[in-house]
Amino acid sequence: MDNEKTKTKVIQKMRTGEVKASAIAHPNIAFVKYWGKRHTGTAREKLNIALNKSVSMTLSDLRTYTTVEFGDYDRDQIIMNGEEVRDERVIDHLNLIRREADIDKKAKVFTENNFPTASGIASSASGFAALTVAACKAAGLDYGERDLSILSRQGSGSACRSIFGGYVVWKKSKISSESYAEQLADENYWELRDLIAVVSEARKKVSSIDGMSMTVQTSPLYMARLEEADKNANHAIEAIKNKDFDSLGQTIEYDSLLMHATMITTTPALLYWAPPSVAIMHAVVDMREEGIPAYHTMDAGPNVHVITLPEYTDKVEKRLKEIDGVKSILNCGPGPGAQEVYKHLF
Ligand code: DP6
Repeated sequence: MDNEKTKTKVIQKMRTGEVKASAIAHPNIAFVKYWGKRHTGTAREKLNIALNKSVSMTLSDLRTYTTVEFGDYDRDQIIMNGEEVRDERVIDHLNLIRREADIDKKAKVFTENNFPTASGIASSASGFAALTVAACKAAGLDYGERDLSILSRQGSGSACRSIFGGYVVWKKSKISSESYAEQLADENYWELRDLIAVVSEARKKVSSIDGMSMTVQTSPLYMARLEEADKNANHAIEAIKNKDFDSLGQTIEYDSLLMHATMITTTPALLYWAPPSVAIMHAVVDMREEGIPAYHTMDAGPNVHVITLPEYTDKVEKRLKEIDGVKSILNCGPGPGAQEVYKHLF
């Protein structure tokens, strides 16, 4: 991706000192989940090339805000939610962008989430999408959405979908240059709601990166899910195109349960569910029996996303609040893609 023009631009920027940029990105909820990377156990695993196609909705309201500056620092400095951290994944990602831009300056990174980090609300998706957009701009790389999606993916797989707003598909591919996300419909296309029942704000014990590799290697159900996942993705795409909420909801719930079946049958077992998570799933099924259209889905954490239509939001929220162990409800709709912003955090 790098070329002479880009390099000249970067050098010019470095001379004028314009090396700071900021971006905002939103997490996404996968309607059909990514779980499993190509080349498990080798360095290529770092490329985060998904074994299956996935479909998501980018979320409004929740966001990561990131400012990156390349400068005369002696080391990369990362300040996450006000605290300095040493995050190897962020440093690897900065290295990737430095290689693309052919620069060697260290970076100062300020990043803030307005929602709980690493608890099944994909903070890595918004985090790496915002980091990619801000760091590329700060490094003088003027990349389009496809290249930003490919780069973000290498930070965290699901981040490639957060580059886009609304409804998004991450296509299946064997090679890095073709493993990127694309927008199916923008955030104004269809007003679905995602009510996130937060049962824990703690960090998850097993990260997605470790969990996925354990599942691919040990779950006897993994291959069966892999075949189903692509079919589920195609069903979800059709349902979104037809705005068929029940068909989409059934696919969402089925794919989440199928992914969790592979997690539970991993050795050692990855049981991300907490007792309130199970109570919420039961409540969602009960609501449906009463005529309320609602479907549940969970990522690698105990919080439950309940997908519903806007006119049922109040009813669903009220019911979820009554469940023991539900600490709070985050109410999101379809949100925009990652964007550069011109106000910096430092
Ligand atoms: C269950 O994108 O966090 O949320 O690529 O290792 O960073 P890495 O994994 P990550 O995994 C997300 C898994 C999921 C499903 C999904 O969002 O598709």
